Amino acid sequence: MSFTPAFLAELRDRLPLSEIAGKRIRLTRAGREYKACCPFHNEKSPSFYINDDKQFYHCFGCGAHGDIIGFVMHHDRLSFPEAIEALAAQAGLQVPRDTPVDREKFDQEKRSYQLLDRATAWFEEQLFASSGREALNYLHGRGLSDEAIRRFRLGFAPNDGQSMLRKLTSEGFKIEELAAVGLAKKSEERNEFYSFFRNRVIFPVGDRRGRIVAFGGRVMGDGEPKYLNSPDHPLFHKGKLLYGLSRARTALNSGQPIIVVEGYMDVIALVEAGYSGAVAPLGTALTDDQLMILWKLLPPQDARDPTRDYCPILCFDGDNAGLRAAGRAMERALPLLTPSQTIRIATMTGAKDPDDLLRQSGKAAMDAILKQAKPMIDVIWEMTIAGRQMRTPEERGSFIAAIKQRVGRIGNESLRQLYQDEIQKRLSTAFNWRADNASNQNRDNRGNNNRGGSWRPPQPPMPLINRKLPPNAKRLFEKAILALMINHPGLFADFGEDLATIAFLNPDLEGLRQRVIDILSLESQEPLDAEELYRHLSHTGEALSGGDSSHSGLEEVLSETTYMHVGFARPGRSLDQARQGWKSIWNKYLQEQLQVDLQSARRRYAEESSDENYTRLMTLRSQVEALLTESGEPNGSDTLLSSSQE
Ligand code: UTP
Ligand code: MN
Repeated sequence: MSFTPAFLAELRDRLPLSEIAGKRIRLTRAGREYKACCPFHNEKSPSFYINDDKQFYHCFGCGAHGDIIGFVMHHDRLSFPEAIEALAAQAGLQVPRDTPVDREKFDQEKRSYQLLDRATAWFEEQLFASSGREALNYLHGRGLSDEAIRRFRLGFAPNDGQSMLRKLTSEGFKIEELAAVGLAKKSEERNEFYSFFRNRVIFPVGDRRGRIVAFGGRVMGDGEPKYLNSPDHPLFHKGKLLYGLSRARTALNSGQPIIVVEGYMDVIALVEAGYSGAVAPLGTALTDDQLMILWKLLPPQDARDPTRDYCPILCFDGDNAGLRAAGRAMERALPLLTPSQTIRIATMTGAKDPDDLLRQSGKAAMDAILKQAKPMIDVIWEMTIAGRQMRTPEERGSFIAAIKQRVGRIGNESLRQLYQDEIQKRLSTAFNWRADNASNQNRDNRGNNNRGGSWRPPQPPMPLINRKLPPNAKRLFEKAILALMINHPGLFADFGEDLATIAFLNPDLEGLRQRVIDILSLESQEPLDAEELYRHLSHTGEALSGGDSSHSGLEEVLSETTYMHVGFARPGRSLDQARQGWKSIWNKYLQEQLQVDLQSARRRYAEESSDENYTRLMTLRSQVEALLTESGEPNGSDTLLSSSQE
């Protein structure tokens, strides 16, 4: 479709830019112009100017510049023709059509939109009529207010298959038009039309501009299928739209993240709780098109505030279906990932969806879930580990092959390389490989080490283990230690002092460590059991985080993600198993801490090979060696990951 320059000029003349922009951002007069804080980059004092005479805007901060069409395109994230349609409607102008065919198609579409809107209004009326009593009760029972019901234009399709058809045809719509948008269906046997949705609560589905194009109909109570969705038609392709999209388009402007959930009710509950960026696919698994739609909502890379996270969060239900959906979404996303186009995945714990969670535990619990959303690298790593054993070389080999295969599917070359590097690092850590062969060969070489021809001071012996865990592995260590102690408070008698003499790196876990110590060391006579300790911890956690125990890190510590790596920390293991587990993990944890000191000592010695620095280095080294011998692993070949699989 093309637009004549005359038409575009007329559009600009009819609509002052300040008027259109003023509906979207706060403008203040500045002489002949208007100024505002720029909607296209993050700023505190206004450098965004609008000049109605010249019909353009300009931002002296980020250089954004354009006319009214550009403004609407960028601000509302519309395509060029969409922006024009939207502006023409406001200006009361008809968009001129090129050919009679275009014209006819346009008119037909317009009628279909009207029809769908009329049907929506009719469903709404039915919900609030006496025949809709049960449906209205059902929605109230699910915690929806009348305002929310109106906001989402929820409705009710009565059981009788004819009343809607009669009403809408009496308004001049043809039955074939109803059939064309999926509202009516022809019965096979009787060759007559009936209403597609019967005795169901209706969830109207808007397109990206908010025009209703389809419906989801839910049975009240049990029944199959739970949701019936409109079939695809010229205005509706279920794989290319998301429920809630028109609202979510501007969510980022108000600082809300894009959140993808599984169901209609989840979107509604999230939006009602203030998460305006919530969307859901329409009864199918997330498609490539839907992923691309999400990414197109984000501002272009150079207009992003570097301190802000724009990554859409996929939030799946806590049941097996949700886990599978997360896996499928990961596989879908891999080929499409780029440095500026990625996702994070959050999973609910327990068989819950966001709707349930918000109702049962409130917004803070939802925030905690979103905060824990994992970047793709962790998702790939964890999903590939899940359910595997790592005891034999074959098992490890198959894990490595699987993870490399996944990372190899990343389409963007530079990102793929970065993922491969990261995976290599994690594998080295997990299986304690030497990433660089040099250190392997030099392990027992106590002589000079000639690197690249330039003379360097004599190198001290290579450390037995030369590795630094990534931060999330450190976190895992800390979680494992805490989970062990919390599930087996009997350990405190033997190991409490150890736990009291260290400090964790992660502030939330450090807080939890201190509380565990406080509670367990207070107990003078009867030692606490795991359940009592847990109760104490969740109480103090709640007090600390203002009524929300999920912020205290406790839930995360006592979760499957911890146990997946350290099975011996599970509740229900014997105290003896826990004791063994503690010994193996504690030494590794100390090694890890020592490694940090060792590395800085090595650096210091390399910078200045003084006696003092040498002594310090050797002392640390012998401490590491002592630890390794103690834990019965002279070659340090066992790690958290591989030793803890059972
Ligand atoms: P869920 O079964 O998780 O439903 O399906 P839900 O959203 O939690 O529904 P409530 O809370 O029981 O009402 C998630 C989504 O999958 C689609 C719908 O879009 C639903 O919202 N779906 C589900 C269907 O299209 N058909 C079905 O039969 C079931
Ligand atoms: Mn639900």
